[in-house]
Amino acid sequence: MALEANPTSFSRITLARIMDLGDANLHGNVHGGVIMKAVDDAAGACASRHTRGKAVTASMDEMVFLEPVHVGDILTCKAQVNWTGSTSMEVGVRVTTQRWDDADAVGHHVASAYLVFVAIDDDERPRPAVPVLVETDDDRHRWAEAVIRRNSRLARRQAIRDRRAAAGDA
Ligand SMILES: CC(C)(COP(=O)(O)OP(=O)(O)OC[C@H]1O[C@@H](n2cnc3c(N)ncnc32)[C@H](O)[C@@H]1OP(=O)(O)O)[C@@H](O)C(=O)NCCC(=O)NCCS
Repeated sequence: MALEANPTSFSRITLARIMDLGDANLHGNVHGGVIMKAVDDAAGACASRHTRGKAVTASMDEMVFLEPVHVGDILTCKAQVNWTGSTSMEVGVRVTTQRWDDADAVGHHVASAYLVFVAIDDDERPRPAVPVLVETDDDRHRWAEAVIRRNSRLARRQAIRDRRAAAGDA
C-alpha cells in the first residue's frame, strides 16, 4: 500500500539553544562539533517526524561553516525534508545566530548542512520512507538541488568502490 505523502510543513522544525562556556573550543568560539550535533539533532527530529518513526543518519555532507559562533549566541537550527527516495530522505538545515540579549540584532546565517537519513524498522533495516509532498517553489528548488547532491553522492561512492575493486582493496 502506497504511503500517504507529507508536506514539508508537516515535519519542519526549529531548535534553538544559547551557547555557553561549555560549548567553547580552545580559541573561545563555539566548537564546530557542538554545531554539528545541534544540526544532527534538528535533522533527526525532522526526519523521524516526517517518516513517523525511527530514522538514522546515513551521511552528513556539505556542512559549510560561514561565520564563527560565539558564547552568548542563540544558535537556531531550522530543518526540513528536501527530498525523499525509497527508504532515504535528505534533510536540509540552516543555522543562524543572534545575540542572547539583543532582540534588535539581525540574525546571522552561520552554517548550512545537508544530511541523509534512512527510515528503519524495529529490526533496524531500511523501510519505505514517507514521500514528501512538494508544494511550493521553494520546495521545488530544494528538491532539484537535493537530486544533484544525491547523484553526486552515489557517483562518488560508486567511483570509490570501483577504484578499490580495481586496486584489489576490500
Ligand atoms: C543507514 C543504514 C540503515 C543503511 O543501510 P543499508 O543496508 O546500507 O541500506 P541500503 O544500501 O539499502 O540503502 C538504503 C538507502 O540509504 C541510502 N544510503 C545508504 N548509505 C548512504 C550514504 N552513505 N549516503 C547517502 N545515501 C545512502 C541508499 O541510497 C538508499 O536510499 P533509497 O532507498 O532512498 O534509494 C545503515 O548503513 C546503518 O544502520 N548505518 C548506521 C546508522 C547510524 O547508526 N547512524 C548514526 C546514529 S543515528
